[in-house]
Amino acid sequence: MKDKILAALENSDGFISGGELSKQLGVSRTAVWKYIRNLREEGYVIDSVTNRGYCMREKPALLDAQIIRNSIPARIVGREVVVLKSVDSTNEELKRRARDGAISGIVVASESQTGGKGRLGRSWKSDPGGLFFSLLLRPELPPAELSSITLAAGLAVCLAVREYTGLDARIKWPNDIIIGNKKLCGILTEMAAQSDIIEYVIIGIGINVNNREFPEEIRAKTVSLREQTGKLIDRNDFFVAVLKHLDEEAASFISGFSADEFRQISELCATIGRRVSASRGDSRIEGTAESISSSGELEVRDDSGKLHRISSGEVVVQGIY
Ligand code: BTN
Repeated sequence: MKDKILAALENSDGFISGGELSKQLGVSRTAVWKYIRNLREEGYVIDSVTNRGYCMREKPALLDAQIIRNSIPARIVGREVVVLKSVDSTNEELKRRARDGAISGIVVASESQTGGKGRLGRSWKSDPGGLFFSLLLRPELPPAELSSITLAAGLAVCLAVREYTGLDARIKWPNDIIIGNKKLCGILTEMAAQSDIIEYVIIGIGINVNNREFPEEIRAKTVSLREQTGKLIDRNDFFVAVLKHLDEEAASFISGFSADEFRQISELCATIGRRVSASRGDSRIEGTAESISSSGELEVRDDSGKLHRISSGEVVVQGIY
């Protein structure tokens, strides 16, 4: 329906009345008004004038591959930038391209995803206003050394958000970025390896940028940059900031993260100092998160004083969604 309304507005020479729209689309005038309201929330500027109807003045700024590619150093990240209108999942798209020989550093973004994927088999709601993209890397490293690549990507997003908005973005180990106690960004890393050689790694990142409304089931625990800053964010500009930081972190990660980088991650990690419950399969560890190890594991001290190093699985943090 959205596409039909947009087409009707675009094809009208100036104003089109609510009555005409409702006739063309076969819905009530109230329904037309609701669709127009939704479009306005997505950033479309639509005038409405009594006795004349509706007129579209501005469309929301879409991602522009050329602008983005020309604004980044692309030493590693963004050597090729592709922007799609719609795709099942940018991670899946990159897997297909990886098998067809796509270069290391290619970034694929999409305005929408019909089957966005989250961690642990969950889905990722890809609502308008968000930024959804994936990065393909072909690092010449053994798979074991890749365990903290998600943290490196999280650090890059966290730094970009802090720099671009001034908001106190923090890392929720291992793959979320939060503001306050709500989720701003999720990262899904997938890898293909043959014996001890990495074929490729795909880092999929979803950030709530200009989203205004979230589905009921995640509303209480989700936040967007627009909500927090009260401003419409230029997604091309913001994307450039994220890619620049990803480029820097990818370079340091590939040459070997130093203790300094892990210290920086620790300092920005909201999980540290909180009570956590970490589960993997049937085992569960409860205690206080103390630090991040030099290989990116979460160090948790249980109530008997024993230190556990958690490398993956589900971690519930007290006080954060
Ligand atoms: C999570 O928090 O569970 C991870 C969410 C990752 C979502 C991003 S959106 C871009 C990329 N494509 C996907 O299908 N998933 C990731």
